Order: sequence, then C-alpha cells, then structure tokens
Amino acid sequence: MHSTDGKDLHSGNLFKDCTLHEAYDKYYTELLDCVKQFEAFSILGHLDLVTRYKFEDGVHHFHDVIEEIFRTIIPRGQGIEINTSGYKYNMNRLLPSRDILELYKQMGGEIITVGSDAHRPERVGDRIDEAYDLLKDIGFNYVTTFKERKPEFHKL
Ligand SMILES: [Fe+2]
Repeated sequence: MHSTDGKDLHSGNLFKDCTLHEAYDKYYTELLDCVKQFEAFSILGHLDLVTRYKFEDGVHHFHDVIEEIFRTIIPRGQGIEINTSGYKYNMNRLLPSRDILELYKQMGGEIITVGSDAHRPERVGDRIDEAYDLLKDIGFNYVTTFKERKPEFHKL
C-alpha cells in the first residue's frame, strides 16, 4: 500500500498536521481495512512501508493492528514479502522489521517472498542473502516463490 488517507506516502503529506504515532496508526488501520475488503493478492508487500518515509526512535509499530492483519491473511494462504529497499532509503534495515517477521512466525505464518524492489537493473537481487540469513535466524525454514499464483517452497 503506497498511500494512506488519500495521500501518497512518498509525498510526505501524510506526516503533516499529525504526530508520527497518528500517521502510523492511520497507515496500519487503513492497511487492515484494505486486506479485509480485498482478497485478490498472494503477498502483502513491504508491510511497514510507512516507516521508510519517516521514523523516529521510540515510535513503534502497531502490533495489535498488525496481528489482526495476520489473523486475516494467514488463514487465506496469503503471505508477506521481505523487501530489501530499506537500504536504498537510508533505513539500514530490511522491510518489514524483525519484530514483525517474528510476530508473523509466532502466528503460524509460513509464506515469505523476498524482493529487492530494484527499480534499476543494478539493484536487482540486492541484499537478498541478508534477507535469507534473517529468515533462518528467526527460524523460518523456507522461502517462497510463486508460479501461476501457486506457492513453491524452497529450503533455506
Ligand atoms: Fe512498493
């Protein structure tokens, strides 16, 4: 999801006239609303994208809302993506953050794809190994790809 409250995240407009906490609340609540209303997808990409545009120490994710997102998508056989573009945006981490990946695992999630969100040829595959290492470290045994919308699991 690239916009919230009708505002493109990249523009920064979401963060005007509200606290960062309120902006995150709007983003995750709207994301939950979207996954409840729209089912025609296999993977939820870069789940905490909002943090790529603004983050501050001490302002955390909304785990209660994210749990509800996972309670919605996991039984449908939908997964999440690890996206390595955070490094391109000076975040120094993958998206979503480790705590969200751990939550997904705790809740029984098993479908994770990895993408570099390259936008340019030279970034294709960037930091993919780091994403695999993180998955293994958290205890995931497989990474997923899709063929004709059917998941295929590959041992890490
Ligand atoms: Fe995106």
